Amino acid sequence: MGALLITSVLAVAEASTSITKSDDPLGAKLTKSSALKDVKIGQSLVYRGVEPSHKTIEVILTKTKNGLIALDGTCTSKGEVVTLKKTQLICVSQGSVYQASTGEVVLGPNGSPKDSIPSLNRYTITDKSGWIWIK
Ligand code: FES
Repeated sequence: MGALLITSVLAVAEASTSITKSDDPLGAKLTKSSALKDVKIGQSLVYRGVEPSHKTIEVILTKTKNGLIALDGTCTSKGEVVTLKKTQLICVSQGSVYQASTGEVVLGPNGSPKDSIPSLNRYTITDKSGWIWIK
C-alpha cells in the first residue's frame, strides 16, 4: 500500500483530519506520533481512509505493552469493514470477531471455528520524523 488518503479518525483520537498521500518507501503517514501520547495500553484508534482505487479502508491502531499494532480492518471472510467494540473488532456481515490487539480471530463467520479464516492483515509501522507511517 503506497498511497493512502486518511479522511477521518474515529474513536479515541483527537480529530486530526490529516490528509496525507505518500509514495514514500516508509508507506503512508497515518498520524502524528504526538497524537498518541494520551492513548492508554489496550486502547485502539480507528482511521478511515481511501485507497487510490477509491475503496474505503480502515486502519485500527492499537497501543499494546509491546508497542503499536496497525491492522487492516478488512474482514478476511468476505471483505467487509470491521467495527471496533471495546477490545474486539466485529464484522456485522457474518459475525466474525477479531482481537484488536493482535488481529487474531476469536470467532469465525456464522459461529464457525476461529481457524476457519485468517487473522486480519497487519501493516508494518515506522515511527519516524514525528509521524507514524504504515506500509
Ligand atoms: S465479511 Fe466479515 S464475517 Fe463475512
